[in-house]
Amino acid sequence: MNAGRNLVNLALIGFMGTGKSSVGRLVADQLRFEFLDTDHLIETRAGKSINDIFSQNGEPAFRELESNLVQELASLRQTVISTGGGLPTNPTNLERLKQHALVVCLWSSPEKIFERVRDQPHRPLLKTPDPLGKIRSLLTTRAPFYRQADILLNSEFRSIREVAQQVIIQFRLATGQR
Ligand code: S3P
Repeated sequence: MNAGRNLVNLALIGFMGTGKSSVGRLVADQLRFEFLDTDHLIETRAGKSINDIFSQNGEPAFRELESNLVQELASLRQTVISTGGGLPTNPTNLERLKQHALVVCLWSSPEKIFERVRDQPHRPLLKTPDPLGKIRSLLTTRAPFYRQADILLNSEFRSIREVAQQVIIQFRLATGQR
C-alpha cells in the first residue's frame, strides 16, 4: 500500500462535521507534529470566509484554491493536515496527498453529522431548506471518494480523544513506529 510513498505527514479527510479539525489538533499535539487546516489557510490567504468565497467567487473558485493548496502541501514534514470535506472529490487531490501523507477518513452517519453541524452557520453547502437531505445526498455521491483513504475510521461512537488515539495507532503501524 505504501510503495513509492513517503509517509511523513498525516491527512484527515471526511465529510463536514466528522471531527477532522478537533481530532487533527489532538493528534498533532500528541505526535508533536504541526497542524494545518486547509479551510483555515484558504480563508487567511483570501482574507475572507469560506462563505464569502462561495457567495462572491463561486464554488469552482474555492475548489481551485483548494487544489492549488494541495500541491503546496508536498513540501510539509511532520504535519497533521485537516482537509475540507469536498477536497477528496477531486481524485488528483487525493493522489497528491497520498504521496506524502497517510490518509485517514473519518466517517459518521448523516444523522450524527446533522446533529453536529446544525447550529454552525459557516458551511455554505448546508445553507439549504433541507440540510439533512443535502448531507445524505452529498455523502452518497462522495462515499466512493472517501473510500479511497488508506484507513476508514468511524468517529460516530467514539470521543474525540478515542478517535485521535486510533489515528495515532494507525499512523504508527503504517510508518513502522512503535
Ligand atoms: C466543504 C466542507 C467544508 C469547507 C467548505 C466545503 C464540503 O469543510 O471546505 O464549506 O464541500 O464538504 P469542513 O469539512 O471542514 O466543514
